[in-house]
Amino acid sequence: MKLLIFAGSTRLNSFNRKLAHVAAQLARAGGADVTHLELVDFDLPMYNADLEAQGTPRDVMRLKQLMYEHPAWIICSPEYNGSYTALLKNTIDWASSPVKSDVAWQEGFKSFSGKVVGLLSASPGALGGLRSQSHLAPLLLNAQCWVAPRAFALSHASDAFDARGQLLNDAHRSNVQAVIDQVLFAAERLTT
Ligand SMILES: Cc1cc2nc3c(=O)[nH]c(=O)nc-3n(C[C@H](O)[C@H](O)[C@H](O)COP(=O)(O)O)c2cc1C
Repeated sequence: MKLLIFAGSTRLNSFNRKLAHVAAQLARAGGADVTHLELVDFDLPMYNADLEAQGTPRDVMRLKQLMYEHPAWIICSPEYNGSYTALLKNTIDWASSPVKSDVAWQEGFKSFSGKVVGLLSASPGALGGLRSQSHLAPLLLNAQCWVAPRAFALSHASDAFDARGQLLNDAHRSNVQAVIDQVLFAAERLTT
């Protein structure tokens, strides 16, 4: 199963990037074919329809194609002001915008429709970014994704990783593994 993993942060020491790394390692160890994206590697300006009318940026097309090729996704979502980050919203807005000049990409949700998505989040706070998940889930459902019921929010993230970015607590690792397992289980059955 092809599994796409990315975090909604580009911060150097991002907890969500670390969580995405852990998820990628666990999923690979379990045999999944993992693509671990770093959004910093995509040159996405702030979405603007006037800009888009001049041509969809090349990295948007690259992102759309990658998303389309992966039936299963895991998103690690930071929480800003009780919601997900502007980076994540901007990424999703670009990736879901129809490309009017390209017949293959005129359906905006082509990259999203039918994907099985697992949600992880990490925050230094006590709720672990759970509220970002509660905003992200309806957005993904609207984009015709299946959102896995199993999710995990890593609270007190500043104390949760060792110097090499590994989770210190076995229970946390098991919670990440449970999300991966459910996403792969569902993707095997719900996607073609
Ligand atoms: C503008 C802003 C708003 C934030 N709001 C929240 C919040 O509502 N809840 C929370 O748990 N953390 C909040 N934080 C703290 C983030 O969880 C913290 O910066 C975290 O490290 C971001 O994720 P990252 O480490 O993956 O970059 C906020 C941070 C910023 C910069």
